[in-house]
Amino acid sequence: MSVGYVTVQWNRHKRVYDVCIAIGISLYLVVFIVVGKLLYTGRNAISDPILGMRALATCAFLLLHIILCIGPLARLDRRFLPLLYNRRHLGVATFLIALAHAALAIGFYHGFGSVNPLVSLLSSNTNFASLSAFPYQILGASALLIMFLMAATSHDFWLRNLGAPAWKRLHMLVYVAYALLIMHVALGILQTQRSPWLAALVGAGVVTVAALHIVAGARECRHDERGWQRAPAGGGCWVDVGAVDEIADQCGATVTIGGRERIALFRHNGRVSAATNVCAHQGGPLGEGRIIDGCITCPWHGWQYRPADGRSPPPFTEKINTYRVRIVGRRVQVDPTALPPGTAVEPARVEEA
Ligand code: HEM
Ligand code: FES
Repeated sequence: MSVGYVTVQWNRHKRVYDVCIAIGISLYLVVFIVVGKLLYTGRNAISDPILGMRALATCAFLLLHIILCIGPLARLDRRFLPLLYNRRHLGVATFLIALAHAALAIGFYHGFGSVNPLVSLLSSNTNFASLSAFPYQILGASALLIMFLMAATSHDFWLRNLGAPAWKRLHMLVYVAYALLIMHVALGILQTQRSPWLAALVGAGVVTVAALHIVAGARECRHDERGWQRAPAGGGCWVDVGAVDEIADQCGATVTIGGRERIALFRHNGRVSAATNVCAHQGGPLGEGRIIDGCITCPWHGWQYRPADGRSPPPFTEKINTYRVRIVGRRVQVDPTALPPGTAVEPARVEEA
């Protein structure tokens, strides 16, 4: 979308990213199967289908943890941002690996009877009241359905058709899928194997994902609470959001008004402009972006908007909300009423100190 950025076609970064994903997944599967064969021999040997099933299952489970950790990591440390750029590719790869695991499991456990394997999956065990014999495979199937919906709508085509808020809500279901999978594992393999190591690994995964989200959330809350106040008497609806010198030239800063409205401020060529912090693409944090080629540039995938009117440079047609901004002394003040997307606003001029 941005100048030089191609949204839907392949570019070198995406190819490198995908090759790394493919190599990582292949290595994991090979190592898992080889180690499984070497460790479990004789009477303890694990059959090939079950070893394959476990290799695929743990690979998809691990990838899901990585996907869930990338978001908070990128918020805590900008060096993780490149991982965020193509997270959707990782999501689709995770779905495909999980699908292979499910297909193998359904074929192995439900494929040899006279009942349709899918009917058998849903009806062979209905012990919903029992913890030790709970139909945990149905939990895996429900998670897989969510992962399918996310993978199928991961293309920008669906983002545009559904609209960013609906698309985002749909993709937040990843946390429901994650909870279902934790139960799939806890009520399935952890009941049959009773392995403390496996239980510890799953627990460590849950704690890591939860801790990163809590730390990143707490940091954002602290940032949000950082000083804003009503402008002094006579200020009308203007809100004081901080000193102009806190915004570096050609950079953005994020302020929160009333504990919810996030506004991105940008200093460019001796002026300050204000726009929504929410990128029209996938809701990326614009305030963490920079001014590149005179445009606000989203840190996630590089979509661009002109600071003066929140419109993407031609030929693009995206628009974001803008805000009225003024400078009183060395303080920046913003009118928190969002103007319709694409509304031109005169940037506030910064007098030399
Ligand atoms: C229709 C969907 C699914 C079915 C029928 C299914 C079935 C199974 C079965 C039968 C097992 C036990 C395998 C064994 O004997 O060791 C298992 C384990 C597991 N499944 Fe699924 N599953 C499904 C979906 C998923 C999905 C979407 C994931 C996502 C990551 C997943 C992750 C796991 C994990 C991590 C294990 C434990 C692997 C281990 O033994 O170490 N499953 N699943
Ligand atoms: S460019 Fe993708 S979220 Fe902003």
